Amino acid sequence: MAALSSLSFSKTLETDVPVLVVLVDPDNRAGPLGKGVLDRLVGGLDRAVAATGFSGKAGAFLDVLAPVGLDAGRLILAGAGPSAEFDDKAALRLGGQVYGKLKDLKIKAATVVLEGADGPLLPERGAEFLLGLSLRAYEFDKYKTKKKDDAAAPVAVTIVAEQAGKLKKAWAEVEPVADGVLLARDLVHEAPNALGPQEFAAEAEKLKKLGVDVEVLGEKDLRKIGMGALLAVAQGSARPPRLVVMRWNGGKDGDRPAVFIGKGLVFDSGGISIKPAGGMEDMKADMGGAAAVTGLFKALAGRKARVNAVGLLGIVENMPDGASYRPGDILTSLSGQTIEVVNTDAEGRLVLADVLAYAEDRFKPAFMIDLATLTGAIVVALGAQMAGLFASDDQLAADLVKAGEDTGERLWRMPMGPEYDKLIDSRFADMKNSGGRNAGSITAAQFLRRFVGDTPWAHLDIAGTAMSSPETDINRAWASGFGVRLLDRLVRNRFES
Ligand code: BES
Ligand code: MN
Ligand code: ZN
Repeated sequence: MAALSSLSFSKTLETDVPVLVVLVDPDNRAGPLGKGVLDRLVGGLDRAVAATGFSGKAGAFLDVLAPVGLDAGRLILAGAGPSAEFDDKAALRLGGQVYGKLKDLKIKAATVVLEGADGPLLPERGAEFLLGLSLRAYEFDKYKTKKKDDAAAPVAVTIVAEQAGKLKKAWAEVEPVADGVLLARDLVHEAPNALGPQEFAAEAEKLKKLGVDVEVLGEKDLRKIGMGALLAVAQGSARPPRLVVMRWNGGKDGDRPAVFIGKGLVFDSGGISIKPAGGMEDMKADMGGAAAVTGLFKALAGRKARVNAVGLLGIVENMPDGASYRPGDILTSLSGQTIEVVNTDAEGRLVLADVLAYAEDRFKPAFMIDLATLTGAIVVALGAQMAGLFASDDQLAADLVKAGEDTGERLWRMPMGPEYDKLIDSRFADMKNSGGRNAGSITAAQFLRRFVGDTPWAHLDIAGTAMSSPETDINRAWASGFGVRLLDRLVRNRFES
């Protein structure tokens, strides 16, 4: 993975910098340090502004080569937009835009004067800018054997800010979140031959060095516990399943934990109800929920979050085989409820059913949130712009929507109710694992609901937001890492403020 090659902080601006970036507003006003820079320019700037129509609006850039009067090879003015609109989200986007510009110009080292037109930025806002820089810098190039020409090499950035010390401290709180997002993206991109259940569990175990307690259950353990639904999905694969339990105890002793559950299909062929060939390779990403939960724990542990949290990953491969489960099979889940399999491609809900029941029984959670690339139908409904939110609890739903708006990882609450629930009643068992095409995301959520008791619960269907991501200011990769920033923010808002 390529990323920012280095990030350093300084209170003062060195002379003789190769590339200098200054933030300006639409009136071409810069903060005190930046103004000092602009004041040294001998003419030229007004003409450059006039010639290019540079406006200082958000996302606009003006690139001045060898500016006369300035000891710099290049001056880049970065439009930050009006000061009044320059909030945390604008800072995040601008960080991404600045990185994109540096990369387009094949710049390898730059000094960025980080302040608003009205003066020093709040350190937290500056840290959002740096988060934008590092998320945009990410690239998954592990399997590219041809060395990139060094023009495309990662960028080293020096940040100049009046409050460099405070900014550095604020970044120390946010950098672990960036690390978590990038880990989630890496896991989603990884090829399915290289990332089976065992390898995924080993990745989670690496979090032990951050102080996360990690327990890995294998097939025998799961059989003993009675996870009949999860095991049925796994039985067609040569690679046996794993259940990973991560624990971060940063809160008060005895406080009920927040529980996060991830669907971890390392590959979803559909099984006997096999998927069409076109695009099937994308199903390496059917562990996007588990990747996000893993990334979240990297973030929480990295910044020593003041919360008790449990992360559970149901890691399974869904394959067609002589030993596969089949349509018509009737499974007994951990909860004791029976399930008629009508489609082996509706496998994620089977895995989650057992993990949800296990989580509620073992951990008595404050709440449970599962993340899953669960249905194609949510992609049809919401595209890549929002994830589907289903919840049994209005407060939890509202808190999630708020965290979504805060971070830009947005959620749209979908309906649930008995009229949808009855669509998965089965003639032969307690329920069937698919209600058919209509309302496909909702009936999938109703299925999960049947395995949750009174614990406040929410389900995020991230099939549209985790993979095949559109180009944004903060991501140019295929996988977005969706959910890490969202849930980190939820934890902050609920437990730490
Ligand atoms: N993993 C898929 C859902 C999916 C589709 C994720 C596209 C990402 C992109 C899930 O296991 C699945 O196959 N769902 C079926 C359910 C159906 C058989 C009831 C679907 O959505 O078609
Ligand atoms: Mn499937
Ligand atoms: Zn799936």
